Amino acid sequence: MRGLTGKSVIVTGASSGIGRATAARLLEEGAQVLGADLSPSADRPASDGSSDAWAFIRVDVSDESSVAAMVAEGVSLFGRIDGVVNAAGVAGGGAVHMVDAAEWRRVIDVNLFGTFLVAKHVITQMLGQELVDGARGSVVTIASIEGIEGTAGGSAYSASKGGVVILTKNMAIDYAGRGIRVNSVCPGFIDTPMTANIFGLDGMETPRHDIIKEHKLGRFGEPEEIASAACFLLSSDASFVTGHSLIVDGGYTAGRDHGVTEMLGLAGP
Ligand SMILES: NC(=O)c1ccc[n+]([C@@H]2O[C@H](COP(=O)([O-])OP(=O)(O)OC[C@H]3O[C@@H](n4cnc5c(N)ncnc54)[C@H](O)[C@@H]3O)[C@@H](O)[C@H]2O)c1
Repeated sequence: MRGLTGKSVIVTGASSGIGRATAARLLEEGAQVLGADLSPSADRPASDGSSDAWAFIRVDVSDESSVAAMVAEGVSLFGRIDGVVNAAGVAGGGAVHMVDAAEWRRVIDVNLFGTFLVAKHVITQMLGQELVDGARGSVVTIASIEGIEGTAGGSAYSASKGGVVILTKNMAIDYAGRGIRVNSVCPGFIDTPMTANIFGLDGMETPRHDIIKEHKLGRFGEPEEIASAACFLLSSDASFVTGHSLIVDGGYTAGRDHGVTEMLGLAGP
């Protein structure tokens, strides 16, 4: 991908799943990466790239002083912040009459308020930076297909991700004229610890099978397949892309297949 070599990027949620795969891909592309996560440490996620291109800081994205310290650390290490991927997130929900107010707040706090705080502090830094090749920076949020379509029991999670989708579009409008692009990736179901924790539970074989069928490509996605979409949006290959929600879902939201063409013999071999 063009325009990632030597760029400095913060990746939150970098200890696991999509964030970790994104940090690894960025290092492979020659970027400098400050990984950040609530977990206290993370190994260097890739063997490629120079050894001083990776640093890690503990962050709680729902705590403003912690987010401010993360951005200050990125600036102190790299001199500027060219990009951010906010992959920190939590699952949670249920039918609304079953959801404790505290659980609702926890999910919104990390997924939506955290996205706001990370964007706020990174964009504040970017606005003070010189333009490089006409750009000050690129912000990538991680939303979800569950921010676009409803899912039974989605409630807090879907609300948080729907919020991320529209916040991303609003930020794209606010900062386009100042050299900052803002886009989101909307993954389908991806094979990470987040989904393993849910679909590894007893009795989950049938829902898991149904969900796999909804992905027309017939499988869960891999974190590396979301990482490549995030890196594309960060890169100068996406220099004319802003305010976009890039759906990477193996066809989950493409539409329905009720088996009618097959029944009529029109599906082909
Ligand atoms: N896995 C999927 O199917 C899927 C689908 C759509 C969207 N997403 C989104 O992608 C993102 C990454 O998910 P994942 O599947 O890699 O999950 P994951 O659980 O593997 O990783 C999430 C990471 O976020 C960190 N985190 C949680 N709360 C935090 C906080 N307050 N501050 C900082 N870090 C925090 C966790 O420690 C963890 O390392 C999330 O926003 C998730 O909602 C995941």
